[in-house]
Amino acid sequence: MPTSATITAENSVPIIFVRGVNKTYASDFQALKKINLEIKRGEIFALLGPNGAGKTTLISIICCIVKATSGTIIADGHDTVRDYRAARAIIGLVPQELHTDSFESVWATIKFSRGLFGKAPNAAYLEKVLRDLSLWDKRNEKIMTLSGGMKRRVLIAKALAHEPTIFFLDEPSAGVDVELRHDMWRMVRELRALGTTIILTTHYIEEAEDMADRMSDWFKP
Ligand SMILES: Nc1ncnc2c1ncn2[C@@H]1O[C@H](COP(=O)(O)OP(=O)(O)OP(=O)(O)O)[C@@H](O)[C@H]1O
Ligand SMILES: [Mg+2]
Repeated sequence: MPTSATITAENSVPIIFVRGVNKTYASDFQALKKINLEIKRGEIFALLGPNGAGKTTLISIICCIVKATSGTIIADGHDTVRDYRAARAIIGLVPQELHTDSFESVWATIKFSRGLFGKAPNAAYLEKVLRDLSLWDKRNEKIMTLSGGMKRRVLIAKALAHEPTIFFLDEPSAGVDVELRHDMWRMVRELRALGTTIILTTHYIEEAEDMADRMSDWFKP
C-alpha cells in the first residue's frame, strides 16, 4: 500500500492501533510498507484498495494469522503478538476465500468454533445467529452440501459464534446475491448498534460510502 491512513481519534482510545507495520513475504515481495492505522471503537471502517493492495495481508496480520515483518498492533489493549490468544478471542473474521469442504454440520461447526475461543455454550445465541442468516433450516446439513452463498453465510455465522467485539469482513460482497448482501448489511448495522467494531474490505467505493462511517485513503481513483 503506497500511503497510510492516519486518523486522529479525538475522543477515545482506538480499539485497533496499527503502527509501522511492514510485511515482506518469503518471496521477498513487500506487501505492506509502514502502515499506520487507527480504528475507533464502534465504527464501521472500510479498507479500500485495488487487487493486491495488501488489504487481506493487513487483516490477516491483525487477526494473528500472518506474522508482520515488523511493527506493532494492539487490538483492544492486547498486543497481537505477545498477547495472541486474548487478541484473537475478541476478533471475528469472515475470510475472503471459502474453505468450507467440511463433512460437519452447520450446527456442529459453529458450536465448535464458539468453544474454540473458550466461550461457554449458548444455544439461544447460536440459534439467533443462524436465524438472522436464514441458515436455521440448514443447521443439520453438512456444509459441503450447501451452495456457495450458503457457505458464505456459514462463514459469517462461524465468525460471530464467539461474540467478537471486533468483526472483519474481507470482501463480503464477492459472489453474493442481492438478498444476502441486504441481510449482511442489516446484520452489520445491528452489530454496530450493539457496540461491535466492523472493518470491511471492498473494491466498490459506492459500497464503502454507503456502509462505512469512515474509509481508508489507500484508494486513489
Ligand atoms: N503468501 C503469500 N506469499 C507471497 N506473496 C503474497 C502472499 N499473499 C499475498 N501476497 C502478495 O501480497 C500482495 C497483497 O496481497 P493481498 O492478498 O493482501 O491483497 P488484497 O488487497 O487483499 O487484494 P484483493 O483485492 O485481490 O483481495 C499481492 O501482491 C500478493 O501477491
Ligand atoms: Mg484480499
